[in-house]
Amino acid sequence: MKIVFSKPDLPATGVYVVAVMNNRKLTPSARAMDKKMKGGLRRAMGGSRFKGGRNQSLDLISPSGTGLDRLVLFGLGKTAGLDAKGLQAAGGRLYAALGSKGFAAAAVAVDALEGCPIKPAVMAAEMALGARLRSYRFDKYRTKEKQSEKPTLKSIKFLVSGQARARTLYDVHDKVADGVFFTRDLVSEPANVIYPGTLADQAKSLTRLGVEVEVLGEKRMAKLGMGALLGVGQGSARESKLLVMRWRGTKSKKAPVAFVGKGVTFDTGGISIKPAGGMEDMKWDMGGAGAVIGLMKALAGRKARIDAVGVAGLVENMPSSTAQRPGDIVTSMSGQTIEVLNTDAEGRLVLADALWYCADRFKPRFMINLATLTGAIIVALGHERAGLFSNNDLLAKRIEDAGNQVGEPVWRLPLADEYDKLIKSDAADMKNIGGSRGAGSITAAQFLQRFVGKTPWAHLDIAGVAWSKIDRPVVPKGGSGFGVRLLDRLVSNNYEERP
Ligand code: BES
Ligand code: MN
Ligand code: ZN
Repeated sequence: MKIVFSKPDLPATGVYVVAVMNNRKLTPSARAMDKKMKGGLRRAMGGSRFKGGRNQSLDLISPSGTGLDRLVLFGLGKTAGLDAKGLQAAGGRLYAALGSKGFAAAAVAVDALEGCPIKPAVMAAEMALGARLRSYRFDKYRTKEKQSEKPTLKSIKFLVSGQARARTLYDVHDKVADGVFFTRDLVSEPANVIYPGTLADQAKSLTRLGVEVEVLGEKRMAKLGMGALLGVGQGSARESKLLVMRWRGTKSKKAPVAFVGKGVTFDTGGISIKPAGGMEDMKWDMGGAGAVIGLMKALAGRKARIDAVGVAGLVENMPSSTAQRPGDIVTSMSGQTIEVLNTDAEGRLVLADALWYCADRFKPRFMINLATLTGAIIVALGHERAGLFSNNDLLAKRIEDAGNQVGEPVWRLPLADEYDKLIKSDAADMKNIGGSRGAGSITAAQFLQRFVGKTPWAHLDIAGVAWSKIDRPVVPKGGSGFGVRLLDRLVSNNYEERP
C-alpha cells in the first residue's frame, strides 16, 4: 500500500473521496464539490440511503461538472470525540470500501472538522495507518486466483494541509505496521512451512535492522537444564529452539525491558491429543512468539530509544513414540519439578523455561509474556479482549492504557494463593493443570508466576485475539498481530529515552 500526502487541492481527474459526517453534514471538501456540481452531491445523497454513517459510502460515477472518474462520499459518522483509534478505524473502513472497486489509486480529502481538536495532518496520518493495516492480505498460496478477484487499490493520496508533518508522523506508524505485518505473515504460514528452525530463520532477517539474534538448539538447552521446554518438543522430528533477540536502541546502562513469547509452531495436544475438528487452528499457537518477533521489528524499524530483549520458546507439540507421556515428571531450568498430567497444557511448560532463562540472564526491568495459552480465556473474554495477569499494578495499568489507546484492549484477571494451590502435585513441585476445569486461565497464569521470581511481570493470554474469524476495521480476518502495537505503545509511552 503506497501512502502519499500532498497539499489540499481538488483533483481534476481520477477517484476523489470526500468525507460526510453524521446526518449528511458536509465537510468543507464535500461542500466545495457540491458547489462545483451545482447541488448534485446533495441530490445524489438525497436519493440514497447514505446518511454519512461510519459504515457507509456512496459512489457517484463521472459526476457532472467535474472531470473525475468517480466521486466517493465516505461516511465518518459522529465526529464528536473522534480520536486516533477512531480515525484509524475510519481509515480501515475507507480501505475496505475502496479496495476492490477496480481502480488502483484514490485521492482522499482530509479537512479540519468542527468539534474535533485533532489537526488535519494528524488525522491523515492516523487514517493512513488504519488503511494500511486493513490492506493486509495473506495470498501467497492462492496461485489460481484471478486478477479480477484480487483487490485493486495500490495507493492512496491524502490531500491535507501540513502534508510534511503528516508524512513524518506516518513514517513512524509505517514501521510499526511493518512489524504487525511480519507477525501476521508468521502466524498465517502453515506448520509445514513454519516450524522451530524456520521460525528462528525468519527472526534472523531482523539482523538487517540491527537486531542481535541468537538461536539456541536442543544441546545448549539441555546443558541449561530446560527440561520443561524440551519435554514438549521431544515427540517432534523438528528440533526445538530458543530464540533470543536484542534491540539496543540506547546507550543507557539501564536494565533492558523484556518480551517473551510462546512459540508452539503446531499444537496437536501431544499424547493428550486434541479432537480433529478445528485442529488446524493450532498452526497459530506460535502467535505469542510471532508478536514478540514483530515487536522487535517495529522497535528496530522505528529506531526506538530502548534496550529491548525478545525471547521465544519454539517447539512443535506432537504425539510419537518419543513424545512425553501423561504422568511424566520433568525438571525445569529453575530446578522446580513438574508433573505433566496433560501434554496439551504445553505452553506453560515452554514458557516456564523461557521466562526463567530471560529473568536469569537479562535481569530485565520487567518481563511481559504473550501466549495463546488457554481455551478458557475465550470462554471468559471471547475475541474482544486479551487476558492480563500481573504481579505489578503499575505495569498492569500501563498495559491496560496502551491497549486502550491502540485498540488492542486487555482485561485483568486475578492471581492469588487460593488459585496457586490448585496446581499442587503429590508427586512433584507442581502439576501442569488444575484439578478441575474451573479457572483454567488463572491456574495457567499461576503456573507461569512460579517462574518469574521477583521480576515485575505480566502475562497476556492472547488465545482469543491472535486470530480473527471476521473482518474488523484495522484487522482483516486471519492473523491479527495482536500485541505488537500494544507493546510498541507501552514502550513509547513509558520507557523510551528522551532524545
Ligand atoms: N494452545 C492451546 C490453547 C488454545 C486454545 C489457543 C484455543 C487458541 C485457541 C493450549 O496449549 C491448550 O491446549 N490449552 C488447554 C489447557 C488444558 C489442557 C488445561 C486448553 O485450553 O484446553
Ligand atoms: Mn495445548
Ligand atoms: Zn498450545
